[in-house]
Amino acid sequence: MIVGQKFFQHLQLLVIVLFLSWRATFEHSTGTEVGIKCLEKEREALLKFKDELIDEYGKLSSWGSEKYKKDCCKWRGVTCDNQTNHIVELNLLGMSLRGNFSISLLEIQHLKYLDLSYNDFSGEIPHHLGNLSELNSLSLGSSNDGSLTSTSLDWLSRLNSLNDLSFYYVNLTMATDWLQTITKLTKLQLLELYSCNLSMVLPPSPFNASNSLSFIILSGNEFSSSWIFPLVFNLSSSLHFLGLFSNKLQGEIPVSLRNMTSLAGLDLFNNQFTGEVPHLALPSSLDYLDLSYNMFTGTVTRCIGSLSKLRRLSLNSNNFEDIITESLFFNLSHLLMLDLSYNQGISFNISSGWNPPFQLIYVFLSGCKVGPHFPAWLRTQKRLEYLDISNAEISDTFPDWFWKSSPKLRNLNVSHNNFHGVLPDLSSSGFVE
Ligand SMILES: *[C@@H]1O[C@H](CO)[C@@H](O)[C@H](O)[C@H]1NC(C)=O
Ligand SMILES: *[C@@H]1O[C@H](CO)[C@@H](O)[C@H](O)[C@H]1NC(C)=O
Ligand SMILES: *[C@@H]1O[C@H](CO)[C@@H](O)[C@H](O)[C@H]1NC(C)=O
Ligand SMILES: *[C@@H]1O[C@H](CO)[C@@H](O)[C@H](O)[C@H]1NC(C)=O
Ligand SMILES: *[C@@H]1O[C@H](CO)[C@@H](O)[C@H](O)[C@H]1NC(C)=O
Ligand SMILES: *[C@@H]1O[C@H](CO)[C@@H](O)[C@H](O)[C@H]1NC(C)=O
Ligand SMILES: *[C@@H]1O[C@H](CO)[C@@H](O)[C@H](O)[C@H]1NC(C)=O
Ligand SMILES: *[C@@H]1O[C@H](CO)[C@@H](O)[C@H](O)[C@H]1NC(C)=O
Ligand SMILES: *[C@@H]1O[C@H](CO)[C@@H](O)[C@H](O)[C@H]1NC(C)=O
Ligand SMILES: *[C@@H]1O[C@H](CO)[C@@H](O)[C@H](O)[C@H]1NC(C)=O
Ligand SMILES: *[C@@H]1O[C@H](CO)[C@@H](O)[C@H](O)[C@H]1NC(C)=O
Repeated sequence: MIVGQKFFQHLQLLVIVLFLSWRATFEHSTGTEVGIKCLEKEREALLKFKDELIDEYGKLSSWGSEKYKKDCCKWRGVTCDNQTNHIVELNLLGMSLRGNFSISLLEIQHLKYLDLSYNDFSGEIPHHLGNLSELNSLSLGSSNDGSLTSTSLDWLSRLNSLNDLSFYYVNLTMATDWLQTITKLTKLQLLELYSCNLSMVLPPSPFNASNSLSFIILSGNEFSSSWIFPLVFNLSSSLHFLGLFSNKLQGEIPVSLRNMTSLAGLDLFNNQFTGEVPHLALPSSLDYLDLSYNMFTGTVTRCIGSLSKLRRLSLNSNNFEDIITESLFFNLSHLLMLDLSYNQGISFNISSGWNPPFQLIYVFLSGCKVGPHFPAWLRTQKRLEYLDISNAEISDTFPDWFWKSSPKLRNLNVSHNNFHGVLPDLSSSGFVE
């Protein structure tokens, strides 16, 4: 599987599993009540804002000065407070808009939620956005490595109510004050700076932790040294999710991770980590662990076996070496996803009578030594939807029971093994392979 595909699958999981559910608590319903009329001044401001944009696909066609479009609370992406009629939410996520941010947004003084991300805005982010002092949630960015830039994030420090800050593909190369600014946002709960070309910065000193930060995602940047761990730990003492995927992080992961006792998700996908994962370095609170696409070595059992809350585990494409036995899974009764693919040194030695403590949905064991026998324990897995045991040195007949034991199976790859006997006709099923 190429990194791109993996990455997509990965993002999907990340977004679906952890992120949306959490963010949803901040989002209000977008419906507006009959009878609400928006305020004239705010309507004018939105029209001015639209004027400075290029709306190639007509996504904002409900916005207009015509009489029948008068109530801007009914415009696409706009939500008004049902008591004050003020616009409180503007959600223009992914509408392919181009052009500049107009200063007219400042007229919408009670804006609490602003999402302009995944558009094609260019130029410098106007610092006057820092005057929208009631903002709880701010998302900005372009749809790719575009030319949206900010040379300093100091303007953000005026947003004292900010809970949720996301920048995607904003060029922050020159914004060396980003960390200093973050430390001033004491109400921040979610920080995501994705693909912003961030690299080494000196920690501001003295350095005050914001105890409210629970999600930190600094993925797709240029971080290369594991100094990032102590820095992040200083940012928050109650971290729930840490995403550092697709950076250039090297060396070993620090033992001090163990102290992050509230960490439920750790995503280090696609870096250059080496060495063994130190015994007991990973906090037992972990529910989601992705160490895939690195160069980790050593055994799996020692670092994973005690993570009894684990639901999603991916160690894909590393250099782990281990003989996996039943005992690895002794504590892993909540596991839903097991991805050990492409670790050539991993082989399985599991007795045919094993009754696992888990019910898996996703099993990816491609490129591991699973054979010579077809894994009999799969018979117990009633929830299985995705199974890849391709290229797994299996030399066996394909078992008859398999088709009945996993009624939810949607995606199967058993290629590059040595099966004999007759496979049933699958042409009417939905299998990909
Ligand atoms: C106003 O909206 C809030 C939640 O957004 C809702 O709980 C409340 O019932 C609404 N009030 C009216 C008068 O519709
Ligand atoms: C955005 O602003 C720049 C500089 O102020 C200007 O040259 C450009 O034409 C503006 N773009 C649009 C779409 O108005
Ligand atoms: C932003 O607020 C500052 C201070 O409150 C004020 O001086 C400045 O004029 C405001 N900027 C805009 C564009 O309204
Ligand atoms: C980002 O900004 C830096 C410094 O201004 C510049 O050298 C670099 O080319 C920019 N990157 C992109 C993709 O525009
Ligand atoms: C990333 O930042 C470095 C300097 O830190 C700069 O030389 C480089 O052009 C930037 N890359 C992009 C894609 O902006
Ligand atoms: C750190 O926090 C303490 C107590 O909240 C405060 O007195 C101090 O000024 C802060 N220091 C900095 C550098 O912000
Ligand atoms: C973390 O905080 C400690 C204590 O305040 C400080 O000594 C250390 O330098 C900080 N580390 C980083 C990387 O900011
Ligand atoms: C974990 O925290 C304890 C108490 O704060 C401290 O003594 C210990 O050195 C920390 N361990 C690591 C590995 O950072
Ligand atoms: C399972 O958890 C217990 C208690 O934390 C621990 O002693 C044991 O070593 C764990 N088993 C494995 C295989 O890690
Ligand atoms: C597999 O496990 C059995 C006992 O559980 C042991 O006797 C056998 O030597 C193991 N085989 C390998 C190749 O490790
Ligand atoms: C099935 O597995 C083989 C070998 O691992 C791989 O080359 C192939 O791309 C996979 N097929 C699909 C549809 O993923």
